[in-house]
Amino acid sequence: MALAAVAAPRPTDSAQKAPFHLPRESTLPRGPEGDRIRRGLRLVMLTERELPGYVGNGLRCTSCHLQAGRVRYAAPWVGITGVLPEYRSRSGRMNTLEERINDCFERSMNGKPLPEDGVEMRSIVAYMSWLSQNVPKGRSVEGRGFKHITPRPTPDREQGARLYEARCARCHAHEGRGMKNPDGSYLIPALGGEQSFNIGAGMARLDTAAAFIRWNMPLLQGGTLTDQEAYDIADYFIHLPRPDFARKHEDWPKGGKPRDARY
Ligand code: HEC
Ligand code: HEC
Repeated sequence: MALAAVAAPRPTDSAQKAPFHLPRESTLPRGPEGDRIRRGLRLVMLTERELPGYVGNGLRCTSCHLQAGRVRYAAPWVGITGVLPEYRSRSGRMNTLEERINDCFERSMNGKPLPEDGVEMRSIVAYMSWLSQNVPKGRSVEGRGFKHITPRPTPDREQGARLYEARCARCHAHEGRGMKNPDGSYLIPALGGEQSFNIGAGMARLDTAAAFIRWNMPLLQGGTLTDQEAYDIADYFIHLPRPDFARKHEDWPKGGKPRDARY
């Protein structure tokens, strides 16, 4: 599956991080290991079609992890297999890569966890390992996560609604409903409603959503919103009606709740 290049300018960050080195396609092994990696790539790109029992909305992994985890500051997966397991305050303990992936299944995809030792999970991890091959173990890659905005602007939600109509609605439609293909799958993912991420997702948090859109949206025009506009628009769409997350009260059991937590 060929992936187009991203046109937008990207910010850069600190020097202690490992450089962002994508593997060459030619390093995809032949035989069963290569097949597993390709299957993993297919699962993250066509998640709702390939794993309908585990996905509860209209999203796919690559709706947020742009270009199948190959874009800096769009929560890339490059280097991820060398830094997990990792402690997370949301769960209050060490989390493996499989648990982290299942967090996104349950929250971002509003679905169910994949069996950790099943062939689908092993394929997704195989793809991420292949992506991570040029990053030294134990080091986060430059561009990991999102480029957070500091200082944080005070959001104006009404202004956000107006800006949304001007900058986002031609693709994501009125009230974030998204746009469907004739077969019912999503051409453009939803930002609100039952087909969107649930309230327990990272994208439902203001700082995270603003950081994502600041550098990635409108698609292929990342970097064209101001910090203030990113906060205004994010404050608007994260507060659109969306699914609840039943186990939300188990989050941050040992404290460390971020300022923008929704509950
Ligand atoms: C609605 C957007 C969204 C979707 C869809 C989504 N994720 Fe995520 N994902 C996030 C956010 C937000 C984070 C948190 C990034 C951070 O910590 O800065 C994240 C983090 C991750 C991480 C950890 C990254 C890191 O650097 O620690 C992995 C691995 C991951 N997601 C895998 C997946 C997989 C696999 C799927 C599909 C089953 C998926 N995600 C679907 C938004 C999403
Ligand atoms: C040119 C069409 C286009 C425009 C304009 C656009 N987006 Fe997107 N957006 C997309 C597509 C397509 C994706 C999914 C990325 C993929 O599948 O590669 C996406 C993904 C997203 C996501 C993550 C997935 C989800 O549904 O939660 C968010 C959040 C988002 N866009 C917000 C915005 C905001 C806010 C604006 C306006 C500032 C905007 N977008 C403008 C096309 C667009």
